[in-house]
Amino acid sequence: MTIQDQGADIPGKPTSASRTTLSHIMTAGDTNLLGTVHGGVIMKLVDDVAGAVAGRHSGGPAVTASMDEMAFLAPVRVGDLVHVRAQVNWTGRSSMEIGVRVLAERWNESTPPVQVGSAYLVFAAVDEDGKPRRVPPVLPETEKDRRRYQEAQIRRTHRLARRRAIMELREQHAAEGVED
Ligand SMILES: CC(C)(COP(=O)(O)OP(=O)(O)OC[C@H]1O[C@@H](n2cnc3c(N)ncnc32)[C@H](O)[C@@H]1OP(=O)(O)O)[C@@H](O)C(=O)NCCC(=O)NCCS
Repeated sequence: MTIQDQGADIPGKPTSASRTTLSHIMTAGDTNLLGTVHGGVIMKLVDDVAGAVAGRHSGGPAVTASMDEMAFLAPVRVGDLVHVRAQVNWTGRSSMEIGVRVLAERWNESTPPVQVGSAYLVFAAVDEDGKPRRVPPVLPETEKDRRRYQEAQIRRTHRLARRRAIMELREQHAAEGVED
């Protein structure tokens, strides 16, 4: 059965229903050779929280299809309490764009957290055979949610166009017999 065959429309879900924050205190085991926190540690937290949001929104398993625009704005240090906040920005038929903000504050100070990173991930909801399944449309609730939805649509358009352009170029090279 294809995803088009799965029947009636699925009711929408508001953005706030799956918005999630994951918090973690950085320790010496999280550092790179420079002594600041390894980017991969942050990326794991980002993927973890985005996966939780995708699972909550879609009501079942979801896998990371892509991660793009992971930006590191400032170094994270040992003793920072890091918060990764994520929400569904946009939904397609079976995919969801999850936006993640990374914030850090000293674990023992009451100063406001500062943004140290951001990322956009696409998750695909899958069934028990790992095949894409439909997701409920996200219902943006605030002006900020609506702006994020529109920006996510722009990113989606660019992702598809880039993928198509690369596939066409590869096919052209293959047709010309160019060695890979
Ligand atoms: C993601 C996956 C399920 C897509 O399966 P597929 O057979 O290519 O299915 P489709 O082409 O129909 O894609 C499904 C949806 O994902 C989107 N998608 C697929 N690959 C994508 C990518 N690289 N970037 C962004 N979106 C992507 C499609 O646009 C489609 O969205 P839509 O249904 O909302 O229009 C499949 O490639 C997969 O299982 N990948 C491995 C995922 C994984 O293991 N992640 C963890 C890595 S450790």
